[in-house]
Amino acid sequence: MSTRHGMGGRTGGSARSRSRTSAVRKAPARVTAMCGIVGYVGPRQAEQVVIGGLRRMEYRGYDSAGIAVVTDAGLVIAKKAGKLANLTAELADHPLPPSSQGIGHTRWATHGGPTDGNAHPHASASGRVAVVHNGIIENFAALRAELQAEGVTCISETDTEIAAHLIGRELDRGSALADTMRTVCLRLEGAFTLVAVDALTPDRIVAARRNSPLVVGVGDGEMFVASDVAAFIEYTREAVELGQDQVVEVTPDGYVVTTFSGEPADSRPYHIDWDLSAAEKGGYDWFMRKEIFEQPRAVADTLLGRLDSEGRLVLDEIRIDDAELRRVDKIVIVACGTAFYAGLVAKYAIEHWTRVPCEVEIASEFRYRDPIITPTTLVVTISQSGETADTLMAIRHAREQHAKVIAICNTNGATIPRESDAVIYTHAGPEIGVASTKGFTTQVVACYLLGLYLAQVKGTKYGDEIRELLEEMDELPEKMQRVLDRVDTYAALAQDFIDRKSVLFLGRHVGYPVALEGALKLKELSYLHAEGFPAGELKHGPIALVEPGLPVFAIVPPQGRDQLHDKVVSNIQEVRARGALTVVLAEEGDEEVVPYADVLIELPRVSTLFQPLVAVIPLQFFACELATLLGHDVDQPRNLAKSVTVE
Ligand code: G6P
Repeated sequence: MSTRHGMGGRTGGSARSRSRTSAVRKAPARVTAMCGIVGYVGPRQAEQVVIGGLRRMEYRGYDSAGIAVVTDAGLVIAKKAGKLANLTAELADHPLPPSSQGIGHTRWATHGGPTDGNAHPHASASGRVAVVHNGIIENFAALRAELQAEGVTCISETDTEIAAHLIGRELDRGSALADTMRTVCLRLEGAFTLVAVDALTPDRIVAARRNSPLVVGVGDGEMFVASDVAAFIEYTREAVELGQDQVVEVTPDGYVVTTFSGEPADSRPYHIDWDLSAAEKGGYDWFMRKEIFEQPRAVADTLLGRLDSEGRLVLDEIRIDDAELRRVDKIVIVACGTAFYAGLVAKYAIEHWTRVPCEVEIASEFRYRDPIITPTTLVVTISQSGETADTLMAIRHAREQHAKVIAICNTNGATIPRESDAVIYTHAGPEIGVASTKGFTTQVVACYLLGLYLAQVKGTKYGDEIRELLEEMDELPEKMQRVLDRVDTYAALAQDFIDRKSVLFLGRHVGYPVALEGALKLKELSYLHAEGFPAGELKHGPIALVEPGLPVFAIVPPQGRDQLHDKVVSNIQEVRARGALTVVLAEEGDEEVVPYADVLIELPRVSTLFQPLVAVIPLQFFACELATLLGHDVDQPRNLAKSVTVE
């Protein structure tokens, strides 16, 4: 059942007593969230804009949703555990009153279960203010104790509710909403985006951010705030990027940005270079499938405009001078998930082209092992969203050690590029499917551009060699398209493997991270046991898993690299001799693999280092197709979120 708050908690009473019981029974819990936030003020019906915005942010992952609108009779809040459809069904039964000011939220619970009561928005004790929140308020226990000592009763298990009470308390003391937000933010520790509406302050929304995304959408006589521009792209393509520790007050006609202490603050307006169609499925059943097919275009966009008039490579924002880059004697790539695998691919190219040692590290492990970082270490961070908390914390640690940080990112103005010394944007357009696809291929390409840029600056490659490699990269979109032209083969494979419980992926050199990524896609989408291994490691353990009928995908290097190629062919024979069903990805015309392939997937001819860009596509498509056949939600796989803004 939903919880609705009128002014003075008119309709909130019963929900309060129910939640109080559970709060007493359970140990203090706190909410950490990877949420979608949206706020609207303007002439349209707030409910329609807010729910539409939440729908466009569903991909971020969530397990409850809620909305608050300001009406003449006060605040009205509706919130439901589960998918947005639960909330919209509730709203269909009990429509919200008309309103021109509203906020909404999709919450991902990790502490304090995904219940109606824990869903956002949360109201202050008087019911005057409603708050939505993304992040963690780390000192919430002390703040809650302070509020409880004053007689405030907390009805949920969340930290967010504390912020609502603190804001409500300040407002009741006569402060204005924006002043209140600033005062409260100064008392909060941790990561948060907070958005608040006050029933007694019509026509405005106040929002604040620290370590968590927030962007303002500037319309004509209407304004938006959101975690992600997708929430308002339908209405405006003009956005404003907020900085760290800033508060914004929006009214239909404008916005004012200040620091937490109230000084005027700079914010960066920008134009969003994609439109509504990019955020819609465009006839595909899944965003993921659409994004798989978008890869040739996305990679072409990553490569676009990278040469200056003298044919030298230029990157988006490099605020590190050449002399400093020349001194770099170690590169460390930090990233999570698929971005980490893109980094693993990049290592081979970067070391080969620059002769600088390159480590690749899972971001969540990085700072805990006391990594050796010096001022001549270059840290490269890869993040599609630019908001992944583990990655953000890793680069902060690196910068504290005086390393320079270059971000490879797909999201303009996100926190990670903002906090880096240089940025290469992948320009892939929005990626909405939780499982990354065009994110991966464009990250690999951006890493390659970085590798070549460093080689240019350091002089480890001649200009003509760099141009030759760039020319070959320019041909990649067309080659990727040829792989996509054969998707029927991969779809048929999914049909054949529908009853399998386990799948292995093997590769060597850059084929190894492709194997890891193929396995990850299958785990994420099909919930199957899938593992990727370096093919050479097979005999040191994984071969014990091979039994008759086990599907084993093998990525075979191009034939030019004979030793590497032949070794993988031997590995394929090893598993096949033990009854495995081999699916072999090899370049066109590779006759040597034919006798050992139960299924042969032909790839266009490319150099070894570029092979991941064509080899990963069949694996992505296979996972998408198998999950579809199994009846899974491909765009929002269970337990996963697109943007993981908690550590
Ligand atoms: C989550 C997503 C993955 C993604 C990873 C890193 O786990 O589900 O698809 O690869 O985060 O995300 P990032 O935005 O930093 O690339």
